[in-house]
Amino acid sequence: MNRKRTAILISGRGSNMDALIAAAQSPAYPAEIVLVLSNAPGAEGLAKAAKAGIATAAIDHKGFEGRAEFEAAVQAELEAANVDLICLAGFMRLLTDAFVGAWHNRMINIHPSLLPAYKGLDTHRRVIRDGGRITGCTVHFVRPQMDQGPIIAQAAVPVHADDMDDSLAERVLTAEHAIYPMALKLVANETVRVAGEKVRFEGEESDQAALLSPAPVQ
Ligand code: GAR
Repeated sequence: MNRKRTAILISGRGSNMDALIAAAQSPAYPAEIVLVLSNAPGAEGLAKAAKAGIATAAIDHKGFEGRAEFEAAVQAELEAANVDLICLAGFMRLLTDAFVGAWHNRMINIHPSLLPAYKGLDTHRRVIRDGGRITGCTVHFVRPQMDQGPIIAQAAVPVHADDMDDSLAERVLTAEHAIYPMALKLVANETVRVAGEKVRFEGEESDQAALLSPAPVQ
């Protein structure tokens, strides 16, 4: 099996990164993690990745003139590692249209809400403020607009009456750790593809075709 060479981009703790690394430890998993890259040199996740024996890179965005220059350095690391796929996992930098375009349908992100609801930051605080009963998380292909793009996987998570931001974040995070490895697997083994800016699953079209034109009754 040709495992997809995958980079994980982080900015902090890296618990989703941990979940992806754990899944990819199985030789049967269709992606291997070849690089963990952070824009924050002190990111906790970098030390964890290094401990797991994965190549790491710290590229401090503060050392660059602008986004394009920072991304050129990131791109050089990705190319040096011969990366096929990128997973954004708590990577807190906005990316330029050019970078996103270069990785079209090869870069995925996890977001702590049921997109398209609650894009942006502070999702859990806003859900609680609005009295939402259900929230969740989403893995999607990255597009130039923030937290937008074809949806690969989602999990719904109940909001409890006594939830605070932290308790809700923790419950959603457990769901994130379940769906991110699943979504990467579907992308890496090419079970999903994008058509008309929606994710289609392999076989979906033929199933639909079978429903539309069933075999003649014998
Ligand atoms: C996760 O909850 C992730 O969904 C969120 O940041 C956290 C990172 O945690 N991402 C975003 O809000 C992106 N818009 P982690 O570093 O422990 O994986």
